[in-house]
Amino acid sequence: MTLLVTGGAGFIGANFIRCMAAAHPTWRIVCLDALTYAGNLSSLEGIAEGPCFRFVRGSICDRQLLETLFCEENPDAVVNFAAETHVDRSIEAPEVFLSTNILGTAALMDACRAHGGVRFHQVSTDEVYGDLPLDRPDLRFTEETPLRASSPYSASKASADLLVMAYHRTYGLPVTISRCSNNYGPYQFPEKLIPLMIARCEAGQSMPVYGEGKNVRDWLHVEDHCRAIEAVLLRGTPGEVYNVGGNSERANIDVVRLICRELGQPESLITFVTDRKGHDLRYAIDAGKIRRELGWEPQHTFETGIRQTIRWYLDNRSWWQTITSGEYRHYYERMYAGR
Ligand code: NAD
Ligand code: DAU
Repeated sequence: MTLLVTGGAGFIGANFIRCMAAAHPTWRIVCLDALTYAGNLSSLEGIAEGPCFRFVRGSICDRQLLETLFCEENPDAVVNFAAETHVDRSIEAPEVFLSTNILGTAALMDACRAHGGVRFHQVSTDEVYGDLPLDRPDLRFTEETPLRASSPYSASKASADLLVMAYHRTYGLPVTISRCSNNYGPYQFPEKLIPLMIARCEAGQSMPVYGEGKNVRDWLHVEDHCRAIEAVLLRGTPGEVYNVGGNSERANIDVVRLICRELGQPESLITFVTDRKGHDLRYAIDAGKIRRELGWEPQHTFETGIRQTIRWYLDNRSWWQTITSGEYRHYYERMYAGR
């Protein structure tokens, strides 16, 4: 099996490559990543040196590069993680989200078509469904919930999902889509809620909670997401969508308070700042289909997973401190100044 993993130097892609290299040591894994601000080759340390692994720096939008790579590697399957992923950045500057997330996905699928109909898996998100009200705990997203994206990021992911299904219907490309809820775990870029709050709390800096902190996210450990993608890749039915989620809904303020407690810091560090524009209220995934049909079950609970994750960030300060001392600092100053 030769697997082409795009966006494999990012948070989930790197965890996926680590999981697959451990579970399937005979697989050849080729990682294509543009190394944008969110890509980090050090997340693949220990894997990148292996004989079954190849890293290629480049964009999924580069059709010529894709053609060369497909000719050289003849992949059996493609798992597409490559994307612009931060909602706040998509509000600030949507255009790159459209080119990478939509046109890049189309370029990859065209390469799959041109090479005999290579199996294609699209890593999507629960955000394509929009949000749910806070006062209806009975409601969850199923695979039949209509797409109703709120942000430029989620609209770009929803557009890509529509294209993926269109390529299945029109060209018979063997595609699958997984739509997962919020991930947490090692190697997450510290602009996202959990690593951002750990880094700031640890340094005794203000912890910026949007609005009143009542928005709810459904948290899943990244390793459980990786195992779900593996299950879909190996046992999923082409043309199908699978929701993935951990049944672990938490209000943002509760997650941030937990981080303060775990790090022994005062809650007075928490600062309520101007809300995100169009801020989705609540996500909640019904993962019944992947549990029933593919036998997937999450292994981590949020309680143990979040403590292990905090420990990982404390034990691996150098991984994120190089990020927070670089260009990212200017992003933070720009995004949060006067908020
Ligand atoms: P990330 O931002 O950490 O990583 C994205 C990676 O894609 C980076 O390595 C970046 O360099 C690479 N990339 C960006 N543009 C590229 C391009 N044009 N060509 C090649 N590589 C490019 O993102 P993540 O959190 O790991 O998310 C991975 C995927 O999972 C995304 O598609 C995202 O929509 C989806 N997802 C994320 C979550 C979450 O909670 N983080 C949940 C559900 C789904
Ligand atoms: O649901 C899956 C999605 O989860 C993925 O598709 C996205 O790629 C990923 O970024 C994530 O999106 P969110 O917008 O939910 O994640 P983020 O970490 O940016 O924010 C989580 C919540 O925390 C959200 O309600 C906004 C809030 N927040 C975030 C930041 C960065 C704050 O209150 N303060 C902050 O500084």
